[in-house]
Amino acid sequence: MKIPSTRLGVLGGGQLGKMMALAAGNWHLPFFALDTSRDFPAGSFCTGFEEGNFNHYEDVLRFGKMVDVLTIEIEHVNIAALLQLEREGRVIHPRPAALQIIKDKGLQKQFYIEKGLPTASFELFETPEAIREAVTRGAWKLPFVQKSRTDGYDGRGVSVIRTEQDLAEKLLPGASLLEEMVPIEKEIALVVARNKRGETAAFPLVEMLFDPDANLVTFLACPARVSPEIAIAAEALALAAIEAYDICGLLAVELFLTPDQQLLVNEVAPRPHNSGHHTIESCNTSQFEQHIRGVLDLPLGSTSLKVPAAVMLNLLGEPGYEGPALYENLDQCLGMEGVHVHLYGKATTKPFRKMGHVTALGETPEAAMEKALKVKELLKVKV
Ligand SMILES: Nc1ncnc2c1ncn2[C@@H]1O[C@H](COP(=O)(O)OP(=O)(O)OP(=O)(O)O)[C@@H](O)[C@H]1O
Ligand SMILES: [Mg+2]
Repeated sequence: MKIPSTRLGVLGGGQLGKMMALAAGNWHLPFFALDTSRDFPAGSFCTGFEEGNFNHYEDVLRFGKMVDVLTIEIEHVNIAALLQLEREGRVIHPRPAALQIIKDKGLQKQFYIEKGLPTASFELFETPEAIREAVTRGAWKLPFVQKSRTDGYDGRGVSVIRTEQDLAEKLLPGASLLEEMVPIEKEIALVVARNKRGETAAFPLVEMLFDPDANLVTFLACPARVSPEIAIAAEALALAAIEAYDICGLLAVELFLTPDQQLLVNEVAPRPHNSGHHTIESCNTSQFEQHIRGVLDLPLGSTSLKVPAAVMLNLLGEPGYEGPALYENLDQCLGMEGVHVHLYGKATTKPFRKMGHVTALGETPEAAMEKALKVKELLKVKV
């Protein structure tokens, strides 16, 4: 692919598309995005923004023909159009057939079994009634986790069923999968990359830290505090996954580490990921640049850390506020050494909406966490 004349297109104009556009800007690549409104985060940063729906066949087909290389920032796009574009010889990464598997958590889980990649045991169900029947039959015992096969994100397609009352009231509608409740010592994630010429690279492991009250991931710390053996095994597993999917660009892999030190694949995303945001400031290559390198078949960049430690926190809309966004104490946070603020430019805030993120760098994990905690206390998105 020629720099800087290759036109790169992304389905989706959210914050991931925006950060990809900013990375593409370094090489002055013409960058295009498709989404329903140019007021979305990527709108102001693209060479061209096409208004359309990435779920509509015609819109995706039209957009795909405008660019040389097509990629995504979200999985929930029209696959039929991508398959058609592929038949017409267009370059699409990740490849549509892999995306089709990843989009559906049921197919994704079956894929891991097929490929011998460790994952929590599961079963597919068509309806909530069939789940209740399986419990009555004794085939499944409480507690377990139910996940919608499609369209779940940010924990919205996940229901933890612990009690008979949950079984009566909390089952999600439609086709889903049941998963055994995994005892989790740590949740970790890593982003790996691959290009067409066969190079692969892995970013350092990230540890997800949860807010015990909200049950939301609040901090992502890099490097993860795990043994070198676990770090090596996690990297090998993620690289095996990207090879198995046979995709170019990024694959973000979410893993569970169990108390008996087993690693299980939870889910993957074939695109830049929350767990890689810290790389913008902390690594020699950002995940966004690496994705572009991967999809354009350029040499992959170095993934090593430039600093000893980084902690990322998502800037979420403060509960109780909805309307035009204001950033309380932004000045004070911008004045902190090693603190990097990213605002996504979403016009209105809503409770828990992802409005931005902040990466705090430190000479030690403790120093980075101390800054992140301070930012979390200070920086609030209100109206
Ligand atoms: N089998 C399981 N056992 C125990 N906890 C689980 C299990 N599956 C999921 N969880 C918990 O639920 C969280 C969300 O699950 P998952 O990542 O599959 O859903 P998601 O909707 O894609 O979430 P996100 O978009 O936030 O990554 C996990 O990070 C984990 O904390
Ligand atoms: Mg997840």
